[in-house]
This record gives sequence, structure tokens and C-alpha cells, in this order.
Amino acid sequence: MEKYRFKLLMLLFICISNFIITADFQPKNYSYLLGKTPGLDKSLLQMHFTLYEGYVKNTNALSLEIEKLESQGKTRSIEYGALKRRFGWEYDGMVLHELYFSNLGYTTRLSSRDRLYTEIVRDFGSFDAWLSDFKATGMIRGIGWVILYRDPIQGRLYNVWINEHQSNHLAGGTPLLVMDVWEHAYLTEFGLNRLGYIDAFINNVNWDVVSSRYAKSR
Ligand SMILES: [Fe+2]
Repeated sequence: MEKYRFKLLMLLFICISNFIITADFQPKNYSYLLGKTPGLDKSLLQMHFTLYEGYVKNTNALSLEIEKLESQGKTRSIEYGALKRRFGWEYDGMVLHELYFSNLGYTTRLSSRDRLYTEIVRDFGSFDAWLSDFKATGMIRGIGWVILYRDPIQGRLYNVWINEHQSNHLAGGTPLLVMDVWEHAYLTEFGLNRLGYIDAFINNVNWDVVSSRYAKSR
């Protein structure tokens, strides 16, 4: 009896695993930014949108491949391990680009009455001191991201350097402002003048979006 029950359970498991819903992320449309980001060329953004779509496509493809290996019971294979390691890289590449594009599109400066502004002053001494640290973080050599993070334990704000897409995130933290400093984000327009790109980025930050991320994190 026990033997049959075990076989039945195995059969049920195989059926369920064959019907796992595969991830199906869709690229978001940020074309509304074109022509609305002074200092950041239309062609630079269009090229960047195409790169972002590659991350969406690869996240879906990786997810499918991993599920296929799982359903075949090949979870001890080298391929399975390699794809699992790769997943966070593609997924974070997709999500960070979405956070980046959606915090572009200037509307207004961050009001000194905004709660986020007062907390920036609390943690950095002044808004200018925060900005100076954010830019300095963006000038670190290498490819990656700069994120103004709110940590989930004390609610303190940090400017964090992210290596590539996946390393150095604050666990459980909320990304408030996200800046891409991979070379593809600026090289075709700014050459090696990364600081010029960072200044253009700062001038195009949509502070309404950043403030809203902060409010939701509280
Ligand atoms: Fe990028």
C-alpha cells in the first residue's frame, strides 16, 4: 500500500512540475522619455532601451531552461548550477534598468519640505553633501550602478556601489534612486567624461518618483 502511495505522490509531483508557470516578463515602454531628457541624447536612450530588452528576454529564457532541467531531475548538473548563478545577474539587470528609466524624466526639484529631503540631511549633513557622495560613488572605477538605498533596519540612507548588477545590494533595502554607470550608459555621447554624464543624469531625475519610492518604503 505504502509503495503505491509513494508512486502516486511521485506521479502527482511530475504532473505538477510539468505545469509550473514559466516566468514571462514583458519589457516596459520608456519611449515617453525620448526628447524629454536634456543632455541625454535620444539615440543614447534608444540604444539603452534595446540593451534593457535583452535582459528581459534572457531572464525569461534562463527561467525556462532552469525549469526544464528541474523537470528532468538534472539539478546536480554543471549546467543547472551555471544557469542558477547567472539568473540573478540577468534578473537584476532587468529590474535595475526599469528602476533607472523610471526615475528619469525631470518634473521638479526635491522640495526641502519633503520627508526624503529631511532624512537625506539627517544622514549626510546636507543635500549637497549627499549629492557630492552620490557623484563620488558614481566615479568609482568599474562597471555597475549607484543606488541611494534605504536600509530596512534603521531606515538610514546609503549611497551604495553595485558591482555589475548583482553584487553589494543591501539585503531587504529599498532602492530609491538608481543610476547606471556601465559604459554603455554614457560612452557614445560623453566618451570618457563620466562626470558629465552623471551631471546630466542628476539634472533629469524625476524626484516625484524617488520621493514616492521613499514614502512606500516607510
Ligand atoms: Fe544599462
